[in-house]
Amino acid sequence: MSETIGWHDYSDSHGGKKITTINPAVQSGSTVLFENYEDMLAAQSGEYPGVTYGTGGLATQKAFEEAFCRLENGHTTKAFPSGISAIINTFMTFTQGGDEILLCDNVYGPTARFCHKVLAKYGVKITSIASDVGGEIESQITDKTKLIFLESPGSNTFEIQDIRAITKIASERNIITVIDNTWATPLHLKPLDLGVDVSIHSATKYICGYSDLLMGVATVNKKYAATFDAFYHSLENYTNPHDCYLALRGLRTLEVRLKAHETSAYEIARWLEGHELVDKVIHPGLASHPQHDLWKRDYTGAAGLFAFTFKKNYSVEHIGSFVNSLNMFGLGFSWGGFKSLITAGKFKRGGEWSHDGKHLIRLNIGLENAKDLKADLELAFQKL
Ligand SMILES: Cc1ncc(COP(=O)(O)O)c(C=O)c1O
Repeated sequence: MSETIGWHDYSDSHGGKKITTINPAVQSGSTVLFENYEDMLAAQSGEYPGVTYGTGGLATQKAFEEAFCRLENGHTTKAFPSGISAIINTFMTFTQGGDEILLCDNVYGPTARFCHKVLAKYGVKITSIASDVGGEIESQITDKTKLIFLESPGSNTFEIQDIRAITKIASERNIITVIDNTWATPLHLKPLDLGVDVSIHSATKYICGYSDLLMGVATVNKKYAATFDAFYHSLENYTNPHDCYLALRGLRTLEVRLKAHETSAYEIARWLEGHELVDKVIHPGLASHPQHDLWKRDYTGAAGLFAFTFKKNYSVEHIGSFVNSLNMFGLGFSWGGFKSLITAGKFKRGGEWSHDGKHLIRLNIGLENAKDLKADLELAFQKL
C-alpha cells in the first residue's frame, strides 16, 4: 500500500528557501494563467498539454487521481463529484442509442434507476443478468451488446460474479466491462488485473472514510483511456479540490482502517452465525456464502459491510423495535465510514432467490469496539 503513502515533492519556495510539505496544497481556482500568449493560443487550438481552466482538474485533483490510479493498476483515473456521477459518466461515455447493455441484478439502486429511466430514454436496451453470473453470460450477449456492468459483491445482497469468466468472453467480443468495486476497494480487488476495462468506486465510502464528503472515481485501462478522457472533458464533471484533498488523505490510512473494519465485521458476523434468532449471515468471506470459493479466488480481503436475516418472519413493527433500540448503530444510508450504521429492507432478485420476502438487516461495521457493538445488538435482539 506504499503506493498511496509514497512521498511526493509538493514544494514551493519563499525567501529563496524551498517550502516542502508532506501533503499537497489545496489548489482552488477557476482561471488558470498562461505563461505567455503562445500558450494561450495553443490552448485555444486544443494543443496545450496542460490544464487550461479549473474544470480540467487542478493540482489537488490530479494528486488524488494519480495516487488512486497507481493503486488500481490503471492507465487513467478521473475523480467525480459522487459515485453515481462516476457511474453515469461511464455509461454516457460508452453507450449510445441502439446499444444493449447487460446490467447485473444486484447493482446499487440508483445505478439501475439511471439505466432504466435515462439510458432507456435514449434508446439503450437494458437486460438484467443474474447477480452471481459467470460464463453463462454468453447466452445473453447479442450483436448489439456494448457494455456489461457488474457489482461484486452487490452492496445490499453480496453476490459475487465470476469476473474472470465474464471478462474473457467480453474481450473476445470487444464488449466493455465495468465494475462497481466500492465494497472491495482497490486494496482487496484490482479489477483491471482481471481484465475489467473500467473500475468505479464511490469514494464517499472507504476511500474517504469519514462520511463527510461525496466523491466518485473511475479508473480505465489503456484501451479505453482516450475515449474516457475526451468524454470527461466534454462533460466537465470535475470535483472540488477540498474534497480531493480529503480523499487523498483518506487513501493514506485506507489500509489500516479497512483492516479494522474487516476484523470487527468478521467477529460480529461469526457471532451472529451462532445466534439463536439469526437465520443466514450474508458475508462473502464466510464459508457459508454461496460464492465463497469464487470470492477467495479473486479477493484478498473483506470489507466491513454485510447482512443477515432472521429465522422468524418478523413484522415491520418488530424490525422497527429492533432497529430503534440500537444505540451504537446509526440508522442511515451509505457505509464505509468510522461510524457503524444499519439499514433494513426487502430485496427482489431474479431466479430462485433464497432471501425472497425476508428482511435483510445490513450492518456497516465502523471503527468502534466490536465487543460494544455486539452488546448493543444483543440488547436489541432481546427486544424481539
Ligand atoms: C455500491 C455503491 N455504488 C455507488 C454508490 C453511489 O455513491 P455516491 O453516494 O458517492 O454517489 C453507492 C452509494 O451508496 C454504493 O453503495
